[in-house]
Amino acid sequence: MLFLQIPLLAVLLAAGDNEATAFQEEISFKMIHSSSFYNDSWVKIRYSAWLGDLQTHGWDINSGRIIFLRPWSKGNLSKKEIKDLEEFCRGGIIIMPQLIHRHASEWQLKYPFEIQILLGCELHPGGAIGNFYRFAYQGSELLHSQNNSLLPSPKGGIRAQDVYRVFNEYHVAKYIVQKILSDTCPRLLLSILDAGKADLQRQVKPEAWLSTGTNPGPDHQMLVCHVTGFHPKPIWVKWMRGEQVQQGNQQSDILPNADGTWYLQVFLDVEATETSGLYCRVRHSSLGGQDILLYLEHHQGSVGWIILAVMVPLVLLTALAFWLRKHWSHCKPPAILLPLE
Ligand SMILES: *[C@@H]1O[C@H](CO)[C@@H](O)[C@H](O)[C@H]1NC(C)=O
Ligand SMILES: *[C@@H]1O[C@H](CO)[C@@H](O)[C@H](O)[C@H]1NC(C)=O
Ligand SMILES: *[C@@H]1O[C@H](CO)[C@@H](O)[C@H](O)[C@H]1NC(C)=O
Repeated sequence: MLFLQIPLLAVLLAAGDNEATAFQEEISFKMIHSSSFYNDSWVKIRYSAWLGDLQTHGWDINSGRIIFLRPWSKGNLSKKEIKDLEEFCRGGIIIMPQLIHRHASEWQLKYPFEIQILLGCELHPGGAIGNFYRFAYQGSELLHSQNNSLLPSPKGGIRAQDVYRVFNEYHVAKYIVQKILSDTCPRLLLSILDAGKADLQRQVKPEAWLSTGTNPGPDHQMLVCHVTGFHPKPIWVKWMRGEQVQQGNQQSDILPNADGTWYLQVFLDVEATETSGLYCRVRHSSLGGQDILLYLEHHQGSVGWIILAVMVPLVLLTALAFWLRKHWSHCKPPAILLPLE
């Protein structure tokens, strides 16, 4: 079973030159509980669950039910398992704030503050599955799990020790978390990877175009290669000349589009006189080894055409406007002007 999943994780791109890149990454399923404690009687809690960068589950605070955001988000969990998970989450919404409020002054938690709990599991390229648990106050970790046991985080100091001591007494909650981490989560991860395979592995080709960014300095130009609409996320985009990847390629984060595809920009700061022969190369699994090459010359040519295409109608329109104004004022019936005089 584990081995069937590996092709999903390993997107091997066609080896064209030395820069050929193989993507092989672990994939995680994580559940996030975040609570904003405004004051000692007011807390806002949110739950969500994510497969890698993709949100798969939400939480309906009114009904206390899990929202399945994808057709395959249930994986092969039984109705009973889903009910149990929902009950656990509802419990977290009641018990966690009580516990935190009660110990807030002892642990020196200062309102307003943010508590985040992250639990999940990850499938490694070799097929091994690990799990993780993290508890953070104001973004810094107080508790984590290692080798299936809960521990205070060293950088959490005395506060982490104190929180750990209290948490460690909640044997039932600990048992349930343990079961979710070591049993439910791995099964859910594997089964949604399987159920969502068609969606997760869909290949959507990128579109790419070039532009120039704000000038980085005198006699320099910032070249921008935009790539959008691709899926899956792993991609290779570089400014090159001949077979040479240029030094100083800078890549933006890969950002999500609303339709689940991805977007990024790759920048190159060059001397204005050094742009000849530069092109942007895009390599992606959807392209079947046919990289997209966008040459700067073509780009500048097209900008020329765009300028021409914009300027000509603009000149014509201006001429027309002048003519119309002149013509119109000539035709103005004097009767209209009379009462004003
Ligand atoms: C707590 O915060 C909420 C939301 O900001 C506010 O409406 C409420 O009055 C506050 N309660 C107290 C006791 O300060
Ligand atoms: C994890 O636990 C197992 C069994 O209890 C032990 O053999 C192993 O050495 C532990 N690994 C780490 C990193 O502590
Ligand atoms: C659910 O899927 C997991 C992983 O694919 C598998 O190991 C398990 O046997 C499945 N369970 C059921 C009840 O089908």
